[in-house]
Amino acid sequence: MKFFLDTANLDELKKGASWGIVDGVTTNPSLIAKEGRPIEEQVRMICDIVDGDISAEVISVEAGAMMTEGRKLAKIHKNIVVKCPLTREGIKATSALSKEGIRVNVTLCFSAGQALLAAKAGAYIISPFVGRLDDVGAVGLDLIRSITQIYRNYGYKTQVLAASLRGPLHVIDSAMAGAHIGTMPFKVMDMLFNHPLTDKGLEQFMKDYNKVFTETPAAR
Ligand code: G3P
Repeated sequence: MKFFLDTANLDELKKGASWGIVDGVTTNPSLIAKEGRPIEEQVRMICDIVDGDISAEVISVEAGAMMTEGRKLAKIHKNIVVKCPLTREGIKATSALSKEGIRVNVTLCFSAGQALLAAKAGAYIISPFVGRLDDVGAVGLDLIRSITQIYRNYGYKTQVLAASLRGPLHVIDSAMAGAHIGTMPFKVMDMLFNHPLTDKGLEQFMKDYNKVFTETPAAR
């Protein structure tokens, strides 16, 4: 599974990129607004940090305007993937942009039927929101399972990107369900490292080694 960071924060991206495990980045209008710079500027800086797919979302709601905006975003860098919402207008724009060779990530997907529409429109990526479904009492992971199954049934090339992941379990379950990509906040990626037995084991290894080779003068 590819690991994407779901943030527009440059410090978080630099830290994540230094681990050597970040395959791409997803942003949305809320994440861009948090950083206070215009999208073109922010996204260009992100492309300098992470070499992988970088999703940049349109803010227009009408297909024609989305297409104009999408073409402009795609010109910023070869790694840009244009993000369009899963609306009638968004699907219309996705279909047109995809035919032009512009890669589209269809976002705000909350049902398997919507995911079928995105695949049929030629989307490069579909983004089902796991955490936001959990928030309303549905099982977000079930949607990932349904979409991966349906796409497999028909050989759709659209990649399933599990979005709105709120903790390590969401990441693991998405991988179990066969999601191609998991996008997560920096905090969640950081949490994946943690295990008390790793800390305990490492402490013991260091203690045992140092007792013989550092603390015993004869051994030097
Ligand atoms: O970028 C889309 C998605 O990952 C947002 O997550 O936590 O705001 O539901 P969240």
